[in-house]
Parts: sequence; C-alpha cells; structure tokens
Amino acid sequence: MQSRILVIDDDAVACEFLQEALSREGYDVVTYTSALEALGQDLSRYDLLMSDIRMPGMDGLQLLGEVQKNWPNLPVILMTAYGSLETTMEAISLGAWDYISKPFSPDDCRAIVKKVLEVRELREKRLNLQPEESAGPKFIGSSATMVDFYKQIARVADSPASVLIEGESGTGKELTARSLHNMSSRRTKQFVVVHCGAIPDNLLESELFGYEKGSFTGADHQHIGLLESAQGGTIFLDEITEMSTALQGKLLRFMQNGEVRRIGGHEVRYVAVRVLAAANKNIDEEVRQNRFRLDLLYRFIVRLRIPSLREHKEDIPLLIEAMLKKFGYPGVRISVEAMELLMAYEWPGNVRELENILQQTLLLSPFVVILPENLPQRFQRQQESRENGGLMDMTPLEEAEKNKILQILQETSWNQSKAAQILGIDRKTLRLKIRRYGLLDGKIPGINL
Ligand SMILES: Nc1ncnc2c1ncn2[C@@H]1O[C@H](COP(=O)(O)OP(=O)(O)OP(=O)(O)O)[C@@H](O)[C@H]1O
Ligand SMILES: [Mg+2]
Repeated sequence: MQSRILVIDDDAVACEFLQEALSREGYDVVTYTSALEALGQDLSRYDLLMSDIRMPGMDGLQLLGEVQKNWPNLPVILMTAYGSLETTMEAISLGAWDYISKPFSPDDCRAIVKKVLEVRELREKRLNLQPEESAGPKFIGSSATMVDFYKQIARVADSPASVLIEGESGTGKELTARSLHNMSSRRTKQFVVVHCGAIPDNLLESELFGYEKGSFTGADHQHIGLLESAQGGTIFLDEITEMSTALQGKLLRFMQNGEVRRIGGHEVRYVAVRVLAAANKNIDEEVRQNRFRLDLLYRFIVRLRIPSLREHKEDIPLLIEAMLKKFGYPGVRISVEAMELLMAYEWPGNVRELENILQQTLLLSPFVVILPENLPQRFQRQQESRENGGLMDMTPLEEAEKNKILQILQETSWNQSKAAQILGIDRKTLRLKIRRYGLLDGKIPGINL
C-alpha cells in the first residue's frame, strides 16, 4: 500500500519541492504551510510526518510535542534550516525519529524517508508496543559525532535486541546502558549491573544463575540469581570480556533461549531479560585469541561504538560547563589559555578523565578563574612543548585559507554547516581544516573570558 506522508513547511516552495521529490517515489504526499492547520485533522491516517522546525505560529518542536501526545506512533522527521545542532538534539530527545539538514537533495530526502518507513514497519510488527516516552539520555554534547550516536541509541533502545557497547574507558558505556534501559518500555522494571571484572568467576556464576541450598559448601540457603531477579528488565554485563569461556558458554545458553538453571538445581526456568554488555577491550581481538567465544559475540544483535572524547573535542566546553554546575561551581570560569590546553589534550581517559581533572583542579584552585598553572602537571608539560615550536609552518596560501575560514566561522557564529556551505566545501573537510589550523583551540563558546 502507498505510504502517506504529511509535509509541513511554512515555505510553499519547500512544500512543492518535497511533494515533487516524494510523489515521484510513489508516496502519497499532502502538504501544509502551517502546523496549526495540519493539526486540525486526524493525523493517524499518515505513515510519516516531515516538518520544518522554524515556522511562524507553531514551530516544529511544539508540533512534535502535540504529535507525541496524540499520535505517539507517528514517525517525525524534522528539517533543520540552519543545521542548529542544539535544536536537533532537543528534537531527538523529544522523540523525533530523525532529522535532515537543509538544503538537501531529492535523493537525500527519499533516502531518509525510506529508512524511517522501514524502521516504522519493523516496529509495527512488534506486539504490545508501548508508546515511547522520552526519558532522554543524560549525555552532554551537541557535536555531529554525538548526535549520530544518540540517534543510534534512540533507534535500538526500545527493542529486545541484545546490545554490545564498545568504547574506551570513561566514554560512557554505563551511561549508554542506562539510557538504553530508560528509553525502553522496560524502564519500570529492574536494571541490574554486574561488574564481571570485579567478581571471581565461580562467584560470578552463582551471582548470575543463583544456587540451591546445599549445592556447595557454604550454600546454606537458596539464592536467586541476578538473571532471575531481573525478569522483564535489563541486565548490564560490564566488562564482559573478563568472563571465563566456561561461563560464557552458560551465558550463551541463556541468551539463546532464556534458560536459567540454578547451580545444584535441576529445574530449568525461563526468564525474559534483555542483555546489554560492555567491553573496553577490542572484542574481535579477544575472539582471535580464543578468549571470547565467537558464538556468544554473535548473540549480540547490535554493536554500539561510543566515540572517544578526542573524536568530539568540540563538546569539551559544553561538558565542562555542565560539570561545573554538577559539582556546584557554576560561577567558575576557565581562562582562554587553560581551555586551549584542555582542547589540545588527547584525553585517553575520555569524559571520566575530564571529570577527574576538573574536580581535582577545583579542589586545589581557590580562584574563580582557572588558569593553565592550576591544571595538573601533565598539562604544564604539554604547554612547554607547544611553546618550543609546536606551531605549524604555513605557506601564505594556507595562511589566507585559515583566515578566511576563521572569518566565515565568526560570521556564522561557528555554525559549521552554514560556514561549510558559504565556503563551498563539505562539513567533513571544514572540520578537518578547523582541526589542522587549530581554530578550535582559542574558541570557547559560552565560557570565553
Ligand atoms: N557524553 C557524556 N556526557 C556527560 N557525561 C558523560 C558522558 N560520557 C561519560 N560521562 C560521564 O563520565 C563518567 C564515566 O562514564 P561511564 O561510567 O558511563 O563510562 P564507562 O565507559 O563505563 O567507563 P569505564 O570504562 O571506566 O567503566 C560518568 O560520570 C558519566 O556520567
Ligand atoms: Mg564502566
């Protein structure tokens, strides 16, 4: 059957463009130039809604709110005119399924529509689907890298699929697991965390599967395992690579058919628990070394990789701002020079390291402004090496390019998609150049002194 798409954009030309692009693909398209007008009808007859964000009267986010309230299963794609990532983030956390940045080509638009309709179809097939309430993740960061990651989270959150979360230490693996649980219809049920690396293997087995009284010395009462007690909820197996291969085998049987047999027991019980796991080791390498079972790896339907902090350094100022508030120092400011050092650092310990450094610095520095000398020792060394000729030699052409890029970025208030458009290069190239010329180093949105 033909899918019906509702398009809302205050710009009649944009409506026409979408009508043309989508009906060519065989969709049945209806357009409105006002959100209020469109809301006057029963939207349940549509399969998809595409809406502009900035519109007079009711804007796209308000519209999204109304749609969530009245037609929670209607997928919404928002069109962002100025690629404003913060609005986009908000939209995603409010329940938008996806977004597309203007200007886009007919092909871009058809691709995103096709993808969303496919996901919708998959969802419709699932029974007892609870309308999604958006208990959005408490992630900080509005970089394109992180927005992409949030979208992946949102897509798999309310599915029974087991998820393997991969990421360096301190990137937010536990945070991701909690978000997946909180954004799923299991959120009212238990979320159980098991730190596989911290518990000896035999103990881990009895913790997970439980035991019957008398099954081993010291088992003087029956013990219900974590898998059983998480019935209907989510279990998060942190550092799953630390589990012995024998126990991995037992976990595999559980993941295949929900079978749980307590140690020393004969009865087999079936429990429905969603399994999430995290690994900060390279799990494919663990498989090659025969330390992790390939058949168990295959039981993880989805693999989510969290970007390391150095892949989205542009979020550092925002993260710091949020952390200062969280730690109770909302008035503290980071000096330009200190921020430069923080931005230049590689962050092997990721967000957790940033948190630690900030806490340490706040405790040791009595001032309202944090200066380079207040930062831990390793930042001082970095500063020296930079002063000893760390700066790159540039040709006059490169110099001119750098200045032009900086000027456009300033004119667009650092809106990278807009700047890239004006400069006639793609966003990826722009990001590369920003990094190459160190343009972000002196830029501290909101925290500049
Ligand atoms: N994007 C983010 N926004 C806000 N806070 C974050 C983000 N990523 C991580 N954190 C915070 O950083 C800390 C570390 O996160 P978490 O414990 O989830 O990381 P992890 O990957 O499990 O680390 P480890 O490998 O050390 O166990 C937590 O305090 C978490 O709230
Ligand atoms: Mg962790």
